[in-house]
Amino acid sequence: MAQGLTILGLESSCDDTAAAVVRRDGAGDAEILSNVVIRQDDLHSAFGGVVPEIAARAHAEKIDLAVEQALAEAGVTLTACDAIAVTAGPGLIGGVLAGVMCAKGLSAATGLPLVGVNHLAGHALTPRLTDGATFPYLMLLVSGGHCQFLRVDGPDAFTRLGGTIDDAPGEAFDKTARLLGLPQPGGPSVEAAAAQGKTSVPLPRPLLDRPGLDMSFSGLKTALLRARDAVVAEHGGLPRDRRADICASFQAAMTEVLAEKSRRALHAHPDVTAFAVAGGVAANRSLRAALTELAGGANLPFLAPPLALCTDNAAMIAWAGAELFAGGRRDNLTLAARPRWPLDGDAAPMLGSGKRGAKA
Ligand code: KG4
Ligand code: ZN
Repeated sequence: MAQGLTILGLESSCDDTAAAVVRRDGAGDAEILSNVVIRQDDLHSAFGGVVPEIAARAHAEKIDLAVEQALAEAGVTLTACDAIAVTAGPGLIGGVLAGVMCAKGLSAATGLPLVGVNHLAGHALTPRLTDGATFPYLMLLVSGGHCQFLRVDGPDAFTRLGGTIDDAPGEAFDKTARLLGLPQPGGPSVEAAAAQGKTSVPLPRPLLDRPGLDMSFSGLKTALLRARDAVVAEHGGLPRDRRADICASFQAAMTEVLAEKSRRALHAHPDVTAFAVAGGVAANRSLRAALTELAGGANLPFLAPPLALCTDNAAMIAWAGAELFAGGRRDNLTLAARPRWPLDGDAAPMLGSGKRGAKA
């Protein structure tokens, strides 16, 4: 049986400074020994979005602390680890550099091997960390910065089947909240308001009339703006119940598009063993319910990792690093930080980008 591995993971590609220690035993089973996330929300909230320079500085200041804390919580020393896995892209370059430089420093000081991990591979391999998913499986990655369908055939074998050509769904939820005067992050506040509303506002279902798995969400925002303005013109303001109706209608449109495209993806890939989601939007109960039903209809398990492992974290990077390391991957001090790094080099480039910069 293969040897067990203990991997330190670092993640700093967006606005969370994270470090984690994950163990992969000889049979390939996982154990998360620690998972530290230092958030930066307070630093960015006044600006209504992530400010790359502020994020980079905060990562550089906090990454050592995150590593120390992760090792202490795991009860292991750095030299007891087998390798250091680090997000080497895609993401905000200043942040990615902070993580890569830290990992290189640790590697140079200890002689531990480095493994550069694609952030999206971290998300895409999470169902193996949490549920021991077996290849091949289908994944919908749906967050504030990403929206894509992936077929996962191995730790380094991804096919991008389609995705958004403009906004990411989380970004659309956040913009909706902003337009309606609801607090950020928009997803949870729009979901809470939607629970009180009726799906009475007609909104488009973008690209549902076209074949394939590409999606578009920016037009939904324009339609929503018009719906809001019509209510304001009629009532001289935005009554709470009408706002709830707009939220319910928006959430229904979002759910319907994502569910229908998921149905098509599953239909085109009948050999997969599971349907998995990751990303912050996977927390949405309406979406989860629709996808659970869909997977059930296809006789497949629906894998939705706990939220702390759906959103950005370093346990997923350590785990992806462990899978790659077990397969022989080794990087060295020439490892480069990449702002863009498509998981699937053969896929057509995406036209749009999320609010946090192009991720793929
Ligand atoms: O994965 P994540 O933490 O960060 C990245 O974008 O990488 O996702 C955050 C996004 C935000 O846009 C937030 O509004 C959305 O996930 N979100 C939700 C819900 N909870 C968080 N969207 C819809 N419904 C929710 N319950
Ligand atoms: Zn992410």
